[in-house]
Amino acid sequence: MWQIIGTGAIGCLWAANLKRTGQDVQLVSRRALLSDTLHYQDLQQQRHQFKISSATRLINSTDPLLVCVKATQVKQAIQERLKMIGPQQVIILMHNGMGCAEQIQTLLPNNPIICATTANASLLHAPLTVQQTGLGITYLGPFNQLAEQYENIVEPLKLALGNTYWVKDIKQKLWLKLLINAVINPLTAIYQINNGQLLEYRFHQQIEEISREALKVARAENLSLKEDELVKIIKQVITQTALNYSSMNRDIHFKRATENEYISGYLVKKAAHHHLEIPAIKSLYEKIAALEKQSGC
Ligand code: PAF
Repeated sequence: MWQIIGTGAIGCLWAANLKRTGQDVQLVSRRALLSDTLHYQDLQQQRHQFKISSATRLINSTDPLLVCVKATQVKQAIQERLKMIGPQQVIILMHNGMGCAEQIQTLLPNNPIICATTANASLLHAPLTVQQTGLGITYLGPFNQLAEQYENIVEPLKLALGNTYWVKDIKQKLWLKLLINAVINPLTAIYQINNGQLLEYRFHQQIEEISREALKVARAENLSLKEDELVKIIKQVITQTALNYSSMNRDIHFKRATENEYISGYLVKKAAHHHLEIPAIKSLYEKIAALEKQSGC
C-alpha cells in the first residue's frame, strides 16, 4: 500500500491515478478528512470517483511514504510521525524547492530518501476534488546511498501516471526545476498574473536577468546548463502552463505561507556560500517575504 502524506493537488493526483490502476492508497492528513470519496477529472475531461481510506496517522511502517506536502511543511509532517516510521521505510519527497531532503536526512539518518520532481499539473477545486490540467514527466532519484537500490519503485508510479523515470543524478533535475520556479513563481506572485502573462515584452529583460543569476549559482554547484537553453526551457514551461496560476501566486493570493525560503531563499543562501552576487533574485526574495509578512504568515 502507498501512504501519501498531503491531500493537496499533487497528493490527490497521485492518489487518484494509483487507485485508477488498482493500487492501494492511504491518504494521511493533519486533520481528519470529511469524505471517503476522491473525485478526479482526467485530461480527457472524464470524471472518476474512488473510495479512499484516510487517517491522520501512519498505519504501517513498511509501505513507501510519498510526501506531497509543500516544502514549508515537509519537516513537520515527518517530525510529528517519526515514531511510526520504520527503519527501512522508503521516504519519497515530492515538492517544489530545495533544502528539505537535508532536513529529513537529519531526522531519519538510516532511511532511504528519494527526491522526486514532477511536471504534471493539477488543480484542487475542493477537498478531495482534483483535476489534472497538464501532462508532464516525473523524475525520481536517490538522495542518499541507502536509496540507490530502490530504482524499481518507479514502476507502480509509472503505471499510475506514465512518464515516470529513475535518474541516478536527481540533483540535475531538481536544480532545473528550482531555476524554473525561481523565475516563474516570484514574478507571477508579485504581479498576481498567470504564467502565460510572463511572455509579455515587459518581462523579457527580468526573466533573462534572473536566469543569468540563478545559473551563476547552479554552476558553482557543478550544474551544467547554458543560459540560452535555460531561457528556452523556461519559456516552454510558461507556454505549456500559460493558463495556470503558479503555486506561489496562489499562496500570496490566499495569504498562505509560500515556498520562498526553499526557492529564491535557497539560491540566496547558496550564492552567499559561494560569494556570488544575485541582486535581482535577492530583491524578489525580499518582496515575497514582505508580502508574506503583510499577510501575517
Ligand atoms: O509552482 C508551480 O506552480 C509550478 O512548479 C510551475 C512550473 C511554476 C508551473 O506553474
